[in-house]
Amino acid sequence: MEYICSKCGKRESVTTRAAKCECGGLWKLDFKPPKFSLEDVDKSEWSMFRYRKFMALEDESWKDITLGEGMTPIVRFDENVLLKMDYFMPTLSFKDRGAAVLMSHCKAIGVDSVVQDSSGNAGNSVAAYGAKAGIKCEIFVPEGTSPKKINMIRAHGAECTVVPGSRDHCADVCRSKVENDGIFYANHVYNPFFYEGTKTYLYEVYEQLGRLPENIVIPVGNGTLFLGVMHALDEFMESGVIDHVPQIIALQTETCDPLLRAAEQGLDRYVEMNVTPTIAEGIAIGKPMRSEEILEYVYKYGVRFIHAREDEILDARAALAEKGVYCEHTTAANYAAYLNYCRKYGETPDCLITMCGAGLKSDH
Ligand SMILES: Cc1ncc(COP(=O)(O)O)c(C=O)c1O
Ligand SMILES: [Zn+2]
Repeated sequence: MEYICSKCGKRESVTTRAAKCECGGLWKLDFKPPKFSLEDVDKSEWSMFRYRKFMALEDESWKDITLGEGMTPIVRFDENVLLKMDYFMPTLSFKDRGAAVLMSHCKAIGVDSVVQDSSGNAGNSVAAYGAKAGIKCEIFVPEGTSPKKINMIRAHGAECTVVPGSRDHCADVCRSKVENDGIFYANHVYNPFFYEGTKTYLYEVYEQLGRLPENIVIPVGNGTLFLGVMHALDEFMESGVIDHVPQIIALQTETCDPLLRAAEQGLDRYVEMNVTPTIAEGIAIGKPMRSEEILEYVYKYGVRFIHAREDEILDARAALAEKGVYCEHTTAANYAAYLNYCRKYGETPDCLITMCGAGLKSDH
């Protein structure tokens, strides 16, 4: 299997340890799955690896590494809203989908030590799957990261380095370690295998409902769930599984919206901005590294961006909790954004919202 550089088109074996191309471009995976069909789903496998026929897996490493991720239920919240309970995961967030595949890839190519930067959840996932795979991990998180996420990273035996400053600065510190020390960068944004996991989100929805909902709300920081869903939509359209794409509703916060601003202006790259703090720590990404790819999809599929208003996130979290759903702040931002979307565009029925992170992790 090979990577293709998204900038210069150079090809490279996926066994490379290089996090990106020499020209600075990020890798894309040269992989075309067979036509999607429910008949080819392995119904005897009770994890997202039931879709492995459509996933880029090099060998059977996933069998030793899976923690039973995926297969999360869809729950009706009210007449218009369905919740996909993606915090019902081994480490309590949707990032397990990506990390299970990424760490299987690391195992398959013989990597024994990795670094990763994260707002917490992706770090939790990489640390857990690293522990299962016997791969040493060092995770960099920004100051202010929920202590429970830090404790969990350390509980899995990973080293956790708390970096003063913003989430973007934390990524810079980790990336200089990758460049200077040559350690493998097991990163959810850079490594394309991660998206092979997050795309199962949409496969599952389709298998569970027998269709796709008309509206799908997705949080966008670096866009790992967003891009996974877009890849799956491409596959569904090409396979003739669907004849139109649902309305994708992408959200960012008011204090960190470099992609929303770019989409408003029709730009092909994120807008530089000063990021001020948000309680939605998971989407506080000022410099999304795959912004060009994200924005291409925004225009291709008519994605609409919407703000989660900072002063409405806690109310949204409370409204969900009052109906038994205890999610983290970043996840509540999805519901806050949905309510904001309804105010702007009117009643929005048949809407799927991801419950992508658990409440206990962000209690601080
Ligand atoms: C709970 C939660 N939701 C959403 C996101 C955003 O994911 P991404 O940055 O890949 O868009 C994150 C990222 O850490 C997260 O932890
Ligand atoms: Zn290149």
